[in-house]
Amino acid sequence: MLHELNPFRPGAGVRPPELVGRQAEIDLVDLMVAKSRARRNDGGLITYGLRGVGKTVLLNELHRNVDQAGWVTVQFEARPGAAGKLVSRQSLARGVAMAGRKMARFRTAVADVRAAVSTVSSFALTVAGVSVNLGVEPSDHRANSGLIEVDLEELVADLAEPLQKNHSALAIFVDEMQDLDGDLLTALLAVQHKATQADWPFYVIGAGLPTLRRTLAEARSYSERFALHEVGALSPSSATEAVIRPAEQLGARFSSEAVAAIVDEAQGYPFFLQTYGKAVWDLTPDRHIDLEIARAGIAEGNADLDQGFFPARWDRTTPSERQYLRTIVAVGGEVASTAAIADHLHVAPASLSPARQSLIEKGIIYAERRGYVSFTVPNMDRFIRRQPDIED
Ligand SMILES: Nc1ncnc2c1ncn2[C@@H]1O[C@H](COP(=O)(O)OP(=O)(O)OP(=O)(O)O)[C@@H](O)[C@H]1O
Ligand SMILES: [Mg+2]
Repeated sequence: MLHELNPFRPGAGVRPPELVGRQAEIDLVDLMVAKSRARRNDGGLITYGLRGVGKTVLLNELHRNVDQAGWVTVQFEARPGAAGKLVSRQSLARGVAMAGRKMARFRTAVADVRAAVSTVSSFALTVAGVSVNLGVEPSDHRANSGLIEVDLEELVADLAEPLQKNHSALAIFVDEMQDLDGDLLTALLAVQHKATQADWPFYVIGAGLPTLRRTLAEARSYSERFALHEVGALSPSSATEAVIRPAEQLGARFSSEAVAAIVDEAQGYPFFLQTYGKAVWDLTPDRHIDLEIARAGIAEGNADLDQGFFPARWDRTTPSERQYLRTIVAVGGEVASTAAIADHLHVAPASLSPARQSLIEKGIIYAERRGYVSFTVPNMDRFIRRQPDIED
């Protein structure tokens, strides 16, 4: 077939040919835009899910939508550790500066805009030492306390009026939100809370691993200001659409057995669907994809996953971390209690903390609930079972 036309696209953050099964989140953000125009703020949105389910792709889609609605936006990816803390502040400050530049072109409420842009300059300078030339001096009394929560609140308060008068809003998109440092996370949650009370046009839209759900639950009253949505595996009917629609548009057809085999093997996980779809397309000699080709494509796709998707994680671990991962598989499969892991290895649980922490920071496991760890990618346990354990 015309291989250069292959519509399937496995890859982190790569827009799929059909973004299926995410209408609820898209509608929710459309509603946010409509309410914001009516000067009403019912809070932000946080999505969570495992690796490869399509969080980044969805976040980008939501970003594009609000951009088109005339909002000013900031997007960044949080990273773990002390370096991550610095990078997040830099990205936030630069993003806010860009937003200020966009606002400087607003035609309504010009005096308010000048004051707001002066607060933007002061915010960028205070939060990350970023100096921006926006044609006004940084404010000497707003967003310059050095306390991120105070400065962010003053920024949002000063932007509110000119944004509203220009039918706009400020949205901060944060990917990998589970890696955000505590101060910045609290600041974002607290200011969203305040914005909801005051109907300021400010929205935090985040995505991250399922640990976010717990973090938010712990932030109690603030978490009420967020719609919390799980981005999970696609339902069988959505997964079927994700496979057949892109093919149909190019005049190719899957037999129902062929598509069922792919959907079944992928268990609805978007990254796997793209991987199998791509492999099947590359193998098929004509525009009719039958079960035999689908099976061959699945085998090819699994070989690809074993070459790339899984080793990208496995190869970054140390021998002691691998031993920890193997033990999760041995005692639990996909989820294991930390007590059972320690028991199995005949060591004190505390002695395993460094390996556990480091694996969490590498994004390979996460603490699904207190005292338990799980893999961040589906089928990682099966991959580990297939690995020879010569080095351990
Ligand atoms: N709704 C969808 N329908 C079909 N394919 C999708 C969908 N969402 C994402 N994909 C595909 O799945 C793959 C993974 O998407 P994405 O990188 O957004 O996942 P993620 O959840 O951000 O993963 P990670 O946690 O590793 O960052 C991409 O190849 C993308 O094209
Ligand atoms: Mg992502």
